[in-house]
Amino acid sequence: MAQVIEAEHLVKRYGDFEAVHGIDFSVSEGACFGLLGPNGAGKSTTIRMICCLAEVSSGRLTVLGHEAHPGNLTIKRQLGVVSQEDYLDPSLTVRENVELHGRFYGMGYREAKSRAQELLVFLQLEEKGSEQVRSLSGGMRRRAVIARALMGRPRLLILDEPTTGLDPQARILVWRKIRELKQEGVTILLTTHYMDEAQRLADDLVVIDHGTILERGTPGDLINRVVGTECLEIAECDPGYGQSLVDSIQLLQVVSDWQGDSLMLFSSDMDPVIARLQEEKLLPTQYYRRRASLEDVFLRLTGRDLRE
Ligand SMILES: Nc1ncnc2c1ncn2[C@@H]1O[C@H](COP(=O)(O)OP(=O)(O)OP(=O)(O)O)[C@@H](O)[C@H]1O
Ligand SMILES: [Mg+2]
Repeated sequence: MAQVIEAEHLVKRYGDFEAVHGIDFSVSEGACFGLLGPNGAGKSTTIRMICCLAEVSSGRLTVLGHEAHPGNLTIKRQLGVVSQEDYLDPSLTVRENVELHGRFYGMGYREAKSRAQELLVFLQLEEKGSEQVRSLSGGMRRRAVIARALMGRPRLLILDEPTTGLDPQARILVWRKIRELKQEGVTILLTTHYMDEAQRLADDLVVIDHGTILERGTPGDLINRVVGTECLEIAECDPGYGQSLVDSIQLLQVVSDWQGDSLMLFSSDMDPVIARLQEEKLLPTQYYRRRASLEDVFLRLTGRDLRE
């Protein structure tokens, strides 16, 4: 099977409201696929349909070769899910939460115990194993949820914001684990609001907003196509002055974008842009020249308005 997830004209309606508007995408076996978008874009809704927790309103959705619908255990037993809310039992210990999940996968007591131990070590949670979940910090809870999701040795791992609230050390640990799982052949669907994370981990991604796919591709493709390889960042830029900069280089291949009060000039050929600004005596005394990033692509595609 080449495609682990296939969505065709996938729609989700809640009453009159359409949260997902007929999206098409597919996820290849062994890939890490990023589902990116601002708050309310429809990421978790899409994930809930993939995890067989919510009904597909129309269109087609197959997961691991089977049609997704609520309660499809054939799919559910092959998935590992880190949902946006963690649903750990606060009165049980970390180890008990992880071990108990083995029951869902039909594991016996011994197998569940040894698998849970392996995963607590894998996520560096062994020392916290006998503490009640209610006493854990947010980052530790997130790691416990990841351990639990891996109990059934899933073929497809769904990660809905797995690193939200983690400190930089814990994020690096989780990234390393995600890479290790990928090397073992696990397919991963990832949502995140950290664009650096998506840029590092995703082989392929879609950017969605208001339930519609805006762009798809590899992080590198999207950067080249949507903005360009380099960025000239002018912080605290006066709008009138910014406009005169943009006007003076309009014949060059430049994409301009405001991020707050900073003006971003993007191009894959920056030297002529700087030369032109110098000739026009418009080059600011302070600017920052850097590589363009997936965050630039995201902001360019989804705009500046806050959601919901
Ligand atoms: N059960 C529900 N009933 C009605 N509307 C819902 C329901 N669940 C989600 N929505 C709406 O569907 C839209 C998409 O929500 P969703 O949770 O999929 O967004 P998201 O992309 O995961 O956002 P976030 O980044 O904030 O997690 C939102 O407008 C949300 O309010
Ligand atoms: Mg969500």
